[in-house]
Amino acid sequence: GAVELGPYRHYMQKEIFEQPRAIAETLEGVVSVVPELFDGADGTAAWRVFKEIDNVLILACGTSYYSGCAAKYWIEGLAGIPCNVEVASEYRYRKSVPNPRSLVVTISQSGETADTLAALRHAQGLGMTNTLTICNVATSAMVRECKLAYITRAGVEIGVASTKAFTTQLAGLFLLTLALGQAKGKITESESDHYLEQMRHLPVALQAVLALEPQVVSWAEDFARKNNALFLGRGIHYPIALEGALKLKEISYIHAEAYPAGELKHGPLALVDSEMPVVTVAPNDELLEKLKSNMQEVRARGGVLYVLADANTDIENAPGIHVIRMPEHYGALSPILHVVPLQLLSYHTALARGTDVDKPRNLAKSVTVE
Ligand code: G6P
Repeated sequence: GAVELGPYRHYMQKEIFEQPRAIAETLEGVVSVVPELFDGADGTAAWRVFKEIDNVLILACGTSYYSGCAAKYWIEGLAGIPCNVEVASEYRYRKSVPNPRSLVVTISQSGETADTLAALRHAQGLGMTNTLTICNVATSAMVRECKLAYITRAGVEIGVASTKAFTTQLAGLFLLTLALGQAKGKITESESDHYLEQMRHLPVALQAVLALEPQVVSWAEDFARKNNALFLGRGIHYPIALEGALKLKEISYIHAEAYPAGELKHGPLALVDSEMPVVTVAPNDELLEKLKSNMQEVRARGGVLYVLADANTDIENAPGIHVIRMPEHYGALSPILHVVPLQLLSYHTALARGTDVDKPRNLAKSVTVE
C-alpha cells in the first residue's frame, strides 16, 4: 500500500527519522554472527564461500558505493582481508584482472540498478562465482542472481536521496565483516558477540544523534546562502564526508566536494576563503591531532569550519569554528552515527532553499536503464 507521510513534510525527513527503527529491524533475529545470516539456510553455502575467498571486491553506485567505501576500512582493518571497491559503471567496462578467489559483493537499495547488475554479471562472466549482495529488496534481480545475500530491512525508501538504506547497508556490511573475520580467524566469537552488543545500542544512539537537529538547522541557515562547500574526513570518515557532499549536491544543488583531510594541502586548499564553508567529520580516533592541524590550515585562510566533533574531544566553539558535539563515542560503528547530522544538514539546507527535496531535478530513485 501507499506509504503515508504521517507528521512529516517530506519522505526524506521521515526516512532520516526512521533510522533507529530501520537498524533495529535489520538486526532483528540476529542472535549471533553466523554464516546462516547470509545464505538463508543452514549456513553451509556461506561458510564454504567465506573459507574459499581471500579478498573482497565491492561493486555499487551512488550512495551504495559510499557504504562500500566505508566497509573497506572494516574489512581490511578488522577482518584482515584485502578489499577493493569499484563504481559499477567503471568496472563493467574496463579490462580488469579477475581473481576467482574474490568475494564479489554488490550493494544496492533497489537491487535493480542497471550498472550494478551489469557489473555483477560481468564479474560472473570472468569466472567469479562467489557473489553476495547487501540489498534492501528481497525479491530483486540482485538477490536472485547472487549466491548469498543479506537483506537490509530499511523498509520502502521513497526519497531519491538515500538515507536509511545507507545506514542499514553499513549495519549489514559490519555483520559481513564480523562473519568474514571469524572465518579467517581474525575475529573471535567473543569479540564478535561484543561488537554485536555495540550494534544493539545503535537505535538508542541514533535517537540521541537525531536530537541534534536544532543545532544542524542553524548550520543549514548558513549553508543555504553558499554556492560551494567542502567536506573533510579521515580514515573511515572520509567516505562519510563523500556521502555528506553527495547529499548536499543531490537535493540543495550546492556544489560540494569531499576530500580526505590529508589531501587538503595538495589542491583544495586553494579554494578556501570566507565563502567556502568546510564541514569536518572529527571522530575521536588516532587521526584527531592530524585533523586539527588540517582545521588550522582552513582557519588560516579565512575558511569557516563546521565541525562534527566526537564526544570527549577538546574541539570548542570559537570565532569561525562551529562545533556540534556527538553524544557518545561509538568506536568502530562511528560512521553509522556521523552520517546522520550530514543527512539533516542537506535536508534543512534544501528546505531553506525551497528545492524539491524528495524529487530533485534530473535524478531518479532507481536507474534501471543505462
Ligand atoms: C540512484 C539514486 C541514488 C542511489 C543509486 C544506487 O542514483 O538516486 O540514491 O544511491 O541510484 O541505487 P541502488 O538502488 O543500487 O542502491
